[in-house]
Amino acid sequence: MRLFIALNFGDETKNKLLETQNRLKSFAKSGNFTRAENLHVTLVFIGEAGERERRRILSVIDGLDAHGFSLTFSGFGSFGSLYWMGIKRSQPLDALYEKLCLGLSREGFKIEKRGFKPHITLAREVVFPPAFDRTALAWDIPEITEQIRRISLMKSERANGKLIYTEVYGKNLSVS
Ligand code: 2AM
Repeated sequence: MRLFIALNFGDETKNKLLETQNRLKSFAKSGNFTRAENLHVTLVFIGEAGERERRRILSVIDGLDAHGFSLTFSGFGSFGSLYWMGIKRSQPLDALYEKLCLGLSREGFKIEKRGFKPHITLAREVVFPPAFDRTALAWDIPEITEQIRRISLMKSERANGKLIYTEVYGKNLSVS
């Protein structure tokens, strides 16, 4: 199974993210737009894992000493043709990421340390009409804040060409 560790959001936040996605859609000629139920922030991408690895990941998640925190989204950008909404770095977010990486590496996982760039993918393979002026994308994005109370181990699958993400395990974070 293909696994990743993520933070998920409630409907109110998803609807706000969809407003930005719809705006992007209105300019694009084509693109693969993330469905509302798939909007998330990946903390750590694990990749293909078997049952033994899955159990080791659960022990790392269970052993996390972390509190709930607020996550603020800001900024909009792209990695090539992938368009995202950014996440403001914060001490609780960075601490959670570091604790996860440390726990996973102690369990023998090789974590990609290409630098943590937390984001929410709004669309992939976006193509704009010829001569599209990208300054049109520099609109003001309203700041969105979400209370994070849970960390999830997610499974990614493709069914009938659709990407399906399912929570296979979750840990509630304590409220401080
Ligand atoms: P992305 O949205 O920027 O592609 C499931 O694939 C999740 O894991 C997505 O959020 C994806 O980020 C993320 N991810 C991180 N590293 C990845 C990798 N090497 N391959 C595929 N997905 C990756």
